[in-house]
Amino acid sequence: MSDELSAAKLAEEQEYTEKLEQLLILGLRARPATDRKKRALHPKALAGFHGAFTVLPDLPDNLKVGLFARPATYEARLRFSNASAIVESDQKKGIRGLAIKLLDVPGTKLNTLPDGGDPGHDFILNSHPIMPIPDVKGFYEMTLNLAKGTALRYFLNPFDPHPGVLLRLLASAKSPDCPVELRYWSMTPYRFGNDRFVKYSLVPTSAHAGPRIEKSTADYLGTAARSHIKHATATYDFMVQIRSDPRRMPLENATVDWDEHRAPFVPVARLEIPKQEPTPEQEAAVEALRFSPWHALPEHEPVGGINRARRRIYEKLSQVRLGKKG
Ligand code: HEM
Repeated sequence: MSDELSAAKLAEEQEYTEKLEQLLILGLRARPATDRKKRALHPKALAGFHGAFTVLPDLPDNLKVGLFARPATYEARLRFSNASAIVESDQKKGIRGLAIKLLDVPGTKLNTLPDGGDPGHDFILNSHPIMPIPDVKGFYEMTLNLAKGTALRYFLNPFDPHPGVLLRLLASAKSPDCPVELRYWSMTPYRFGNDRFVKYSLVPTSAHAGPRIEKSTADYLGTAARSHIKHATATYDFMVQIRSDPRRMPLENATVDWDEHRAPFVPVARLEIPKQEPTPEQEAAVEALRFSPWHALPEHEPVGGINRARRRIYEKLSQVRLGKKG
C-alpha cells in the first residue's frame, strides 16, 4: 500500500478533522462545570512527576538524528493519565497515557505555544501499540457513537459492522497494577530525519518498588505511582522502531502493528523518574502544561492522517479548556 493519499481522501480527512474538533468541543462544553477545565481526552491525571531524559552517548551515526544527534540530558515533565473522556474510577479497564515534555531543547518546534513561546519537545504515548481505528474518519465515527450511547449498534450493525474496532478496543483495555510499570507506545508514526519513519516506545528497565497497592479504590493508580516513586527511581529505555518495509508498515493506517521482528525497537535515550514525593504545587504545574505531538523538532514531524488531525485539535481543545480565544 502506498503512503500517498488521493486529493479526495485528503479532502475527506480535512472534513472529518473539523467534525471531530467540533464534537470534542461540544463534549467539553456539555460537562459539569467542575470538569470543563480538564482535557477533552485523558482528563484524569494519575500523577505529575519531574524526570530526566538522556540521549545516549555513542549512538551509531544512523541514529544521530534531530534530538538524538548529540548526547545531552534534558529536564522532563511527565503526566500519567487515563485515556477515557470521562473522569472515572481507575478500576475501569482502559488505556493509560504518558505525556513527556523535555525542557530547553534547542531549535524551533513545528508548533509553538499560542504566544509564540517554545513549548519544549513532547512525546505522547499510550499503553497499547495500536489504535482501534485506522484514520480520522474512523476516530470520529467511534467517538460519536461512544458519546451518543450507540456504540453497540455501531460495532455490530449488520449492514455496516465494525467488529474489528470492538475487538481492538477490548484488547487495549487493561487493568494495570501501576502506571509507572507499564510499557508505552506512540501508536502513530513520526519522521526520523529526511527519509525514514519511526514509532516510539518507552520500555521500563526497573522493577516494582514499595508496597503493592490494592486495586480497591477509585484512585489506586495515582496512589500506586506515587508510592513507587516515593520508594525508588524508575528507569526506562526510550526506543525507536525504524520502518523497514513500507508495504507492511503503513503510515496511514494506525491499526497496523509494525512487526518487531521485521523492525526491532532500538534504544536512543534513557528516561529516569528519580525518587520524589511531588507536592500538590508540582502536580498542578504539570497539569497546567500543554502537550502536543507537534511540539517537536522538524526532524521528528508527526506523520499519517491521525497525526495531521492532532496538529490543530490539541491546540484548539487546550485553548477551549483554558478558556482562551483562538
Ligand atoms: C485523531 C486522533 C486523536 C485525537 C482527536 C486526540 C485528541 C486529544 C485531545 C483533544 C487531547 C487533550 C488535549 C489538551 O486539552 O491539551 C488529547 C490528549 C492526549 N492524547 Fe490524544 N488524540 C488522538 C490520538 C492520540 C494518539 C494516537 C495517542 C497515542 C499515544 C494519544 C495520546 C494522548 C495522550 C497521552 C493525551 C494526554 C496528554 C496530556 O497529558 O496533556 N492521542 N488527545
